[in-house]
Amino acid sequence: MKREGIHKPTVEDAIEIGSIEILHPGGYMLTKRTAELCEMKKGMIVLDVSSGRGTQAIFYAQTFGVNVTGLDISEEMNRTATQKVIEAGVSDKVKFVLGDSQHLPFAENTFDVVINECAVGIPDDSQKVLDEMLRVLKPNGAVAIHESTWKKSLPVSKKIEISERYGTTPLEFEEWKKMLEKAGTVDIISEFEQWSKPEMFWNIRKDRIVKDHKSVMTIREKITTAFRINKIYGLKGVLKVFENEKIFFNSVLNGELGYALFKGTKKPVG
Ligand SMILES: C[S@@+](CC[C@H](N)C(=O)[O-])C[C@H]1O[C@@H](n2cnc3c(N)ncnc32)[C@H](O)[C@@H]1O
Repeated sequence: MKREGIHKPTVEDAIEIGSIEILHPGGYMLTKRTAELCEMKKGMIVLDVSSGRGTQAIFYAQTFGVNVTGLDISEEMNRTATQKVIEAGVSDKVKFVLGDSQHLPFAENTFDVVINECAVGIPDDSQKVLDEMLRVLKPNGAVAIHESTWKKSLPVSKKIEISERYGTTPLEFEEWKKMLEKAGTVDIISEFEQWSKPEMFWNIRKDRIVKDHKSVMTIREKITTAFRINKIYGLKGVLKVFENEKIFFNSVLNGELGYALFKGTKKPVG
Protein backbone atom coordinates (compact mmCIF):
# COMPACT_ATOMS: atom_id res chain seq x y z
CA MET A 1 0.00 0.00 0.00
CA LYS A 2 3.01 2.34 0.38
CA ARG A 3 3.43 4.74 -2.55
CA GLU A 4 5.84 7.60 -3.01
CA GLY A 5 4.18 10.62 -1.45
CA ILE A 6 2.27 12.75 -3.89
CA HIS A 7 0.81 14.47 -0.83
CA LYS A 8 4.06 15.66 0.73
CA PRO A 9 4.54 17.29 3.16
CA THR A 10 2.31 14.91 5.08
CA VAL A 11 0.68 15.42 8.48
CA GLU A 12 3.53 13.30 9.92
CA ASP A 13 6.12 15.59 8.23
CA ALA A 14 4.41 18.62 9.77
CA ILE A 15 4.36 17.01 13.22
CA GLU A 16 8.07 16.26 12.97
CA ILE A 17 8.87 19.76 11.69
CA GLY A 18 6.92 21.33 14.58
CA SER A 19 8.16 21.26 18.14
CA ILE A 20 5.59 19.12 19.95
CA GLU A 21 7.37 16.78 22.35
CA ILE A 22 4.99 13.81 22.33
CA LEU A 23 4.39 12.60 18.81
CA HIS A 24 1.57 10.11 19.27
CA PRO A 25 -2.14 10.07 20.12
CA GLY A 26 -2.88 9.33 23.76
CA GLY A 27 0.07 11.43 24.96
CA TYR A 28 1.60 10.60 28.36
CA MET A 29 -1.50 8.68 29.40
CA LEU A 30 -0.87 6.05 26.74
CA THR A 31 2.89 6.04 27.33
CA LYS A 32 2.28 5.34 31.04
CA ARG A 33 -0.21 2.59 30.21
CA THR A 34 2.29 1.01 27.79
CA ALA A 35 5.02 0.93 30.46
CA GLU A 36 2.65 -0.53 33.04
CA LEU A 37 1.47 -3.30 30.71
CA CYS A 38 5.12 -4.15 29.99
CA GLU A 39 5.73 -4.27 33.76
CA MET A 40 8.80 -2.07 33.56
CA LYS A 41 10.94 -2.42 36.66
CA LYS A 42 14.11 -0.83 37.98
CA GLY A 43 17.23 -2.07 36.19
CA MET A 44 15.45 -3.47 33.12
CA ILE A 45 16.93 -2.75 29.70
CA VAL A 46 14.41 -1.12 27.37
CA LEU A 47 14.58 -0.32 23.66
CA ASP A 48 12.38 2.54 22.45
CA VAL A 49 12.24 2.17 18.66
CA SER A 50 11.70 5.45 16.79
CA SER A 51 12.18 7.43 19.97
CA GLY A 52 11.49 10.88 18.47
CA ARG A 53 12.29 13.75 20.84
CA GLY A 54 13.14 11.36 23.68
CA THR A 55 10.15 12.34 25.82
CA GLN A 56 9.05 8.75 26.40
CA ALA A 57 12.56 7.38 27.04
CA ILE A 58 13.10 10.04 29.72
CA PHE A 59 9.69 9.34 31.25
CA TYR A 60 10.40 5.58 31.44
CA ALA A 61 13.80 6.12 33.07
CA GLN A 62 12.52 8.67 35.59
CA THR A 63 9.28 6.89 36.47
CA PHE A 64 10.30 3.23 36.39
CA GLY A 65 14.09 3.34 36.89
CA VAL A 66 14.78 1.44 33.67
CA ASN A 67 17.76 1.91 31.35
CA VAL A 68 16.62 3.03 27.92
CA THR A 69 18.19 3.01 24.49
CA GLY A 70 16.25 5.12 22.01
CA LEU A 71 16.73 4.56 18.29
CA ASP A 72 15.64 6.99 15.60
CA ILE A 73 16.47 7.54 11.93
CA SER A 74 16.59 11.31 12.33
CA GLU A 75 19.81 12.95 13.50
CA GLU A 76 17.84 16.04 14.45
CA MET A 77 15.43 14.04 16.64
CA ASN A 78 18.38 12.36 18.37
CA ARG A 79 20.14 15.71 18.92
CA THR A 80 17.03 17.19 20.55
CA ALA A 81 16.48 14.01 22.58
CA THR A 82 20.07 13.98 23.85
CA GLN A 83 19.79 17.63 24.92
CA LYS A 84 16.59 16.83 26.83
CA VAL A 85 18.26 13.88 28.56
CA ILE A 86 21.05 16.16 29.77
CA GLU A 87 18.51 18.74 31.01
CA ALA A 88 16.55 15.99 32.80
CA GLY A 89 19.75 14.70 34.45
CA VAL A 90 19.29 11.09 33.26
CA SER A 91 22.35 10.74 31.00
CA ASP A 92 23.43 7.67 33.00
CA LYS A 93 20.15 5.91 32.15
CA VAL A 94 19.17 7.04 28.65
CA LYS A 95 21.08 7.13 25.36
CA PHE A 96 20.13 7.49 21.71
CA VAL A 97 21.49 5.79 18.63
CA LEU A 98 20.93 6.52 14.99
CA GLY A 99 19.41 3.73 12.93
CA ASP A 100 16.63 2.31 10.82
CA SER A 101 13.94 0.34 12.62
CA GLN A 102 13.93 -2.15 9.72
CA HIS A 103 17.56 -3.09 10.49
CA LEU A 104 18.14 -2.70 14.22
CA PRO A 105 21.86 -2.49 15.08
CA PHE A 106 21.61 -4.80 18.11
CA ALA A 107 22.30 -8.48 18.79
CA GLU A 108 19.38 -10.84 19.21
CA ASN A 109 17.90 -11.38 22.69
CA THR A 110 19.35 -8.12 24.07
CA PHE A 111 16.42 -6.22 25.66
CA ASP A 112 13.89 -6.97 28.42
CA VAL A 113 11.28 -4.71 26.82
CA VAL A 114 10.97 -3.37 23.26
CA ILE A 115 8.51 -0.60 22.46
CA ASN A 116 7.52 1.31 19.36
CA GLU A 117 5.15 4.22 19.84
CA CYS A 118 3.40 5.27 16.66
CA ALA A 119 6.13 4.46 14.17
CA VAL A 120 5.68 0.87 12.95
CA GLY A 121 3.52 2.14 10.07
CA ILE A 122 5.98 4.77 8.84
CA PRO A 123 8.82 2.79 7.16
CA ASP A 124 8.20 0.82 3.92
CA ASP A 125 8.15 -2.60 5.59
CA SER A 126 6.13 -2.63 8.83
CA GLN A 127 6.47 -6.42 9.15
CA LYS A 128 10.26 -6.07 9.08
CA VAL A 129 10.08 -3.49 11.88
CA LEU A 130 8.14 -5.95 14.05
CA ASP A 131 10.43 -8.88 13.09
CA GLU A 132 13.43 -6.80 14.14
CA MET A 133 11.81 -5.71 17.41
CA LEU A 134 11.15 -9.36 18.30
CA ARG A 135 14.63 -10.47 17.22
CA VAL A 136 16.38 -8.14 19.68
CA LEU A 137 13.91 -8.89 22.51
CA LYS A 138 14.82 -11.58 25.07
CA PRO A 139 12.58 -14.69 25.13
CA ASN A 140 9.58 -14.00 27.41
CA GLY A 141 10.33 -10.27 27.16
CA ALA A 142 7.53 -7.74 26.63
CA VAL A 143 6.82 -6.03 23.32
CA ALA A 144 4.38 -3.15 22.86
CA ILE A 145 3.27 -0.99 19.98
CA HIS A 146 0.50 1.54 19.51
CA GLU A 147 -0.60 2.40 16.03
CA SER A 148 -3.15 4.12 13.84
CA THR A 149 -5.82 1.53 13.10
CA TRP A 150 -8.89 1.60 10.85
CA LYS A 151 -12.13 1.57 12.80
CA LYS A 152 -14.36 1.29 9.75
CA SER A 153 -14.11 -0.84 6.67
CA LEU A 154 -13.15 1.62 3.90
CA PRO A 155 -12.50 1.22 0.16
CA VAL A 156 -8.81 0.58 -0.53
CA SER A 157 -8.52 3.80 -2.56
CA LYS A 158 -9.73 5.84 0.43
CA LYS A 159 -7.33 4.06 2.77
CA ILE A 160 -4.46 4.82 0.40
CA GLU A 161 -5.41 8.47 0.13
CA ILE A 162 -5.65 8.97 3.90
CA SER A 163 -2.40 7.03 4.48
CA GLU A 164 -0.56 9.19 1.98
CA ARG A 165 -1.84 12.41 3.46
CA TYR A 166 -1.18 11.22 7.02
CA GLY A 167 2.34 9.93 6.22
CA THR A 168 1.92 6.57 7.89
CA THR A 169 0.06 3.38 6.97
CA PRO A 170 -2.78 2.49 9.35
CA LEU A 171 -3.93 -1.13 9.22
CA GLU A 172 -7.01 -3.02 10.37
CA PHE A 173 -6.92 -4.20 13.98
CA GLU A 174 -6.62 -7.88 12.95
CA GLU A 175 -3.85 -7.07 10.49
CA TRP A 176 -1.65 -5.56 13.24
CA LYS A 177 -2.36 -8.54 15.46
CA LYS A 178 -1.46 -11.07 12.75
CA MET A 179 1.78 -9.22 11.97
CA LEU A 180 2.78 -9.26 15.63
CA GLU A 181 2.05 -13.00 15.79
CA LYS A 182 4.03 -13.60 12.59
CA ALA A 183 6.99 -11.84 14.21
CA GLY A 184 6.85 -14.29 17.13
CA THR A 185 4.57 -12.55 19.65
CA VAL A 186 2.26 -14.58 21.91
CA ASP A 187 -0.27 -13.71 24.63
CA ILE A 188 -1.31 -10.50 22.86
CA ILE A 189 -3.58 -8.13 24.74
CA SER A 190 -5.00 -5.00 23.19
CA GLU A 191 -6.92 -1.81 23.92
CA PHE A 192 -8.69 -0.13 21.03
CA GLU A 193 -11.89 1.77 21.88
CA GLN A 194 -10.53 4.05 24.59
CA TRP A 195 -7.48 5.18 22.61
CA SER A 196 -9.57 5.79 19.47
CA LYS A 197 -11.61 8.65 20.92
CA PRO A 198 -10.90 11.85 18.95
CA GLU A 199 -9.84 13.67 22.14
CA MET A 200 -7.01 11.12 22.49
CA PHE A 201 -5.65 12.27 19.13
CA TRP A 202 -5.57 15.89 20.30
CA ASN A 203 -4.42 15.38 23.89
CA ILE A 204 -0.72 15.16 23.21
CA ARG A 205 0.60 18.18 25.09
CA LYS A 206 2.74 17.74 28.17
CA ASP A 207 1.55 20.83 29.99
CA ARG A 208 -2.12 21.40 29.08
CA ILE A 209 -5.41 19.76 28.18
CA VAL A 210 -6.34 20.21 24.51
CA LYS A 211 -10.04 20.77 23.85
CA ASP A 212 -10.16 20.22 20.07
CA HIS A 213 -7.99 19.55 17.05
CA LYS A 214 -7.56 23.25 16.31
CA SER A 215 -5.78 23.89 19.60
CA VAL A 216 -3.11 21.20 19.55
CA MET A 217 -0.56 23.90 18.70
CA THR A 218 -0.60 27.46 20.01
CA ILE A 219 -0.85 30.24 17.41
CA ARG A 220 2.83 30.99 17.89
CA GLU A 221 3.74 27.31 17.31
CA LYS A 222 1.54 27.21 14.19
CA ILE A 223 3.27 30.26 12.74
CA THR A 224 6.76 28.92 13.52
CA THR A 225 5.89 25.54 11.99
CA ALA A 226 4.40 27.20 8.88
CA PHE A 227 7.62 29.21 8.44
CA ARG A 228 9.71 26.07 8.71
CA ILE A 229 7.51 24.17 6.23
CA ASN A 230 7.68 27.14 3.85
CA LYS A 231 11.48 27.11 4.06
CA ILE A 232 11.66 23.42 3.12
CA TYR A 233 8.66 22.97 0.78
CA GLY A 234 7.60 26.50 -0.20
CA LEU A 235 4.13 28.04 0.13
CA LYS A 236 2.58 25.15 -1.82
CA GLY A 237 3.85 22.87 0.93
CA VAL A 238 2.16 24.95 3.64
CA LEU A 239 -1.14 24.80 1.74
CA LYS A 240 -0.72 21.06 1.21
CA VAL A 241 -0.32 20.50 4.96
CA PHE A 242 -3.57 22.41 5.65
CA GLU A 243 -5.34 20.22 3.06
CA ASN A 244 -3.85 17.00 4.48
CA GLU A 245 -4.67 17.94 8.07
CA LYS A 246 -8.28 18.67 7.18
CA ILE A 247 -8.73 15.21 5.66
CA PHE A 248 -6.88 13.51 8.52
CA PHE A 249 -8.93 15.34 11.20
CA ASN A 250 -12.19 14.47 9.39
CA SER A 251 -11.20 10.83 9.27
CA VAL A 252 -10.64 10.81 13.04
CA LEU A 253 -13.82 12.79 13.77
CA ASN A 254 -15.89 10.54 11.47
CA GLY A 255 -14.71 7.49 13.39
CA GLU A 256 -12.86 6.00 10.39
CA LEU A 257 -9.45 6.19 11.96
CA GLY A 258 -8.71 5.01 15.48
CA TYR A 259 -5.71 4.06 17.55
CA ALA A 260 -4.83 0.70 19.10
CA LEU A 261 -2.40 -0.47 21.77
CA PHE A 262 -0.97 -4.00 21.59
CA LYS A 263 1.18 -5.71 24.17
CA GLY A 264 2.59 -9.21 23.91
CA THR A 265 5.40 -11.54 24.89
CA LYS A 266 8.20 -13.04 22.85
CA LYS A 267 7.51 -16.72 22.32
CA PRO A 268 9.95 -18.62 24.54
CA VAL A 269 12.49 -20.90 22.81
CA GLY A 270 11.78 -24.62 22.59
C1 LIG B 1 5.23 9.77 15.02
S1 LIG B 1 6.91 10.00 15.47
C2 LIG B 1 6.91 9.07 17.00
C3 LIG B 1 8.07 9.46 17.90
C4 LIG B 1 7.96 8.92 19.32
N1 LIG B 1 7.87 7.48 19.36
C5 LIG B 1 6.79 9.54 20.04
O1 LIG B 1 5.77 8.85 20.19
O2 LIG B 1 6.86 10.71 20.43
C6 LIG B 1 7.76 8.96 14.36
C7 LIG B 1 9.27 8.85 14.57
O3 LIG B 1 9.75 7.78 13.74
C8 LIG B 1 11.02 8.13 13.24
N2 LIG B 1 11.26 7.27 12.09
C9 LIG B 1 10.69 7.33 10.85
N3 LIG B 1 11.16 6.34 10.07
C10 LIG B 1 12.03 5.61 10.83
C11 LIG B 1 12.83 4.47 10.59
N4 LIG B 1 12.83 3.84 9.40
N5 LIG B 1 13.62 4.01 11.58
C12 LIG B 1 13.64 4.63 12.79
N6 LIG B 1 12.90 5.72 13.08
C13 LIG B 1 12.10 6.21 12.10
C14 LIG B 1 10.89 9.61 12.95
O4 LIG B 1 12.14 10.23 12.82
C15 LIG B 1 10.08 10.07 14.17
O5 LIG B 1 10.93 10.42 15.23
